[in-house]
Amino acid sequence: MEYLSRRASDLSGVEREEADKIDTAGLYEKLGPGTIREISEAFYAAVYSREGWFREIFSNVEKEHAINNQYTFFVEKFGGPRIYTATKGHTALIGRHGPYKISHAAAQEWLACMEEAIDTVPSVDQQSRTIMMNYFKHMAYYISCGMDLVNQNRLVGYGDRPGGYHQLGN
Ligand code: HEM
Repeated sequence: MEYLSRRASDLSGVEREEADKIDTAGLYEKLGPGTIREISEAFYAAVYSREGWFREIFSNVEKEHAINNQYTFFVEKFGGPRIYTATKGHTALIGRHGPYKISHAAAQEWLACMEEAIDTVPSVDQQSRTIMMNYFKHMAYYISCGMDLVNQNRLVGYGDRPGGYHQLGN
């Protein structure tokens, strides 16, 4: 959705073309599944070490389950085996985040956890870090902007289905 992508770029400071480099950078090949799993483990370690409203978003989420969901998603997104969609179907990230209260502040906090996580994994080189962070920044705000529209009833439909959401007006 063009409007969401524009908003996400404005808020994150990352243009869509930069974020999309994740699709062709071959990071699965370069980093390998072990490093990708380490990133997801470090990310959720950071999330669960937080206190307060951000940690609350994850209060009903089982850590190992969340790590596995994120890991299989990243493997696929970074160019590896398509385990995530094979088992769960369309990625539909806005819809999958529907049950959670995701504000722009939550996007910022998610990104802080991810930056912290990546920095604890020494096998991540600088170029891969930049490509990942650009994608994460754009996507985090894409999701929070999407939630804004859902809450204003300007994005309607079924977020967990392919092409399931439709935007009303601008
Ligand atoms: C799942 C929060 C951004 C990818 C989840 C879950 C929560 C959450 C609470 C449920 C845990 C689970 O059941 O796996 C947030 C918050 C974000 C955010 C607060 C801030 C904007 C992102 C971003 C990505 C992402 C930027 C991808 C780049 C995923 C994936 C799942 C997930 C793949 C698993 C969904 C599933 O398979 O059901 N997120 N997330 N999230 N998130 Fe996020």
